[in-house]
Amino acid sequence: MIRRTTTLSAAVALAAALALTGCSSSSDGAADGKPKLEVSGAFMPQPVMDMAGGFLTVKNTGGTADKLTSVTSPISDDITIHETKNQKMLEVKSFDIPANGELKLSRGGNHIMFMELKQKPKQGEKVSVELHFEKSDPIKVDLPVESAGHNPQQH
Ligand code: CU
Repeated sequence: MIRRTTTLSAAVALAAALALTGCSSSSDGAADGKPKLEVSGAFMPQPVMDMAGGFLTVKNTGGTADKLTSVTSPISDDITIHETKNQKMLEVKSFDIPANGELKLSRGGNHIMFMELKQKPKQGEKVSVELHFEKSDPIKVDLPVESAGHNPQQH
C-alpha cells in the first residue's frame, strides 16, 4: 500500500517534469514529436506545352520526419511527384522530409509534375497548389510562374 502510493506520486512528478520540458522547448518543435514544416522558394517555370514542373523546398524544423504524399491544384487533375534518375523521370509515392532537415525539389532532380493543364499560366501569374503530407496538415502555396528557363540554382 505504501509502496503503491510512492510509485504513483513518482509518476505524477515525472509527468509534471515532462510537461514542463515540453513547454519550455516547444519553440524548436523537437519536444512535441511533430514535424514542423515551412515551404520556401516555390516556383513554376512557364509551361511550353500542356505540362509543367513545380519546384520548392520544404524545411522541417521538427524532431519527427514527415512525407510529401501528394499535390493538388485547380490547374490540373493529373499531378504526380517525380524523381529524376539517369535523366529519366520516375513517379514516386512520396518524398521523405527528414526530421530537422529538408526536402528540396529542383530542376534536374525531384519535382512536382503537372499534366494536362487546364490553362497555361504565364510568367508573373501564380498557380495555387496544396501540398499533402503523411502527418502534417496540408499546406497551401502559391507558385509564382517564372520564365521557362528559370533556375535559381545557377546564380
Ligand atoms: Cu516529371
